Amino acid sequence: MTDIKTDNEQIALVTGASGGIGKSIAQALARTGRFVYLNFHSNREKAAETLEEIIRNGGNGALLEFDVTSQEESEQAIEKIIKEKGKIDILVNNAGIRNDMLMVRMKKENWQTVLDTNLTSFFNVTRLAVKNMLSKRFGRIINISSTSGQTGQAGQVNYSASKAGLIGATKALAREIAKRNITVNAVAPGFIETEMIDGLPVKEIAETIPAGRLGKPEEVAAAVVFLCSKDAGYITGQVIGINGGVL
Ligand SMILES: NC(=O)c1ccc[n+]([C@@H]2O[C@H](COP(=O)([O-])OP(=O)(O)OC[C@H]3O[C@@H](n4cnc5c(N)ncnc54)[C@H](OP(=O)(O)O)[C@@H]3O)[C@@H](O)[C@H]2O)c1
Repeated sequence: MTDIKTDNEQIALVTGASGGIGKSIAQALARTGRFVYLNFHSNREKAAETLEEIIRNGGNGALLEFDVTSQEESEQAIEKIIKEKGKIDILVNNAGIRNDMLMVRMKKENWQTVLDTNLTSFFNVTRLAVKNMLSKRFGRIINISSTSGQTGQAGQVNYSASKAGLIGATKALAREIAKRNITVNAVAPGFIETEMIDGLPVKEIAETIPAGRLGKPEEVAAAVVFLCSKDAGYITGQVIGINGGVL
């Protein structure tokens, strides 16, 4: 795989870099030479630990605190990156939550917070980033969707809707900006070993997965790094499943 090594250091933003998958993505992008902004919301300590590790291993990056559900905070964060670095080459929309329950028990706020965090965040963070990418005629946008967004999952009407929505947004935006050398893809993980799946019956779940095990955050990160590479320049509007054969 050829990573993009140009004179210009690439600038990446990973939202939710204080969580399991975001951490691995930030580390992998830093390992391949990118300057990585690590976004967090409530968990500064975890994001700071990851940044320390990145720097210890010879990489480079910075922390960036903002709430992806706030358009104002998200746009200020993108403006800050552009002010500091002049550009944003890679955007990974990874921040997300789940709040599972049967639809009949679901309150409007349980629906809305999941949609705001997982889907409206895409709009909040991506719009100004795209503006900059259009002017630079380069960009890589990767949205972290989910198998639940492809198949639907009982108990996850809110989460499945948000993740399916991300796939629609990915495909539409990909068509809008493909001519400017900007690719937009989604990665759809199955069950991945992070805090997000705490409390789920992991052993039973593993038995339903053809690979016989859950996925690792690094396996998601590897796909993201590939989609950011020069070799992936003709891949856009796609959904890459990372699910051990579930789908
Ligand atoms: N784990 C899985 O099995 C799995 C499967 C499919 C898809 N995914 C998707 O992968 C992504 C990462 O999940 P994960 O497993 O790494 O979960 P995680 O460990 O729970 O991490 C979630 C991340 O999202 C951030 N976040 C939540 N609300 C936010 C907000 N309002 N503003 C900014 N950041 C916010 C959290 O930041 P703070 O902690 O700092 O608030 C944290 O960094 C999510 O989109 C998830 O839906 C996960």
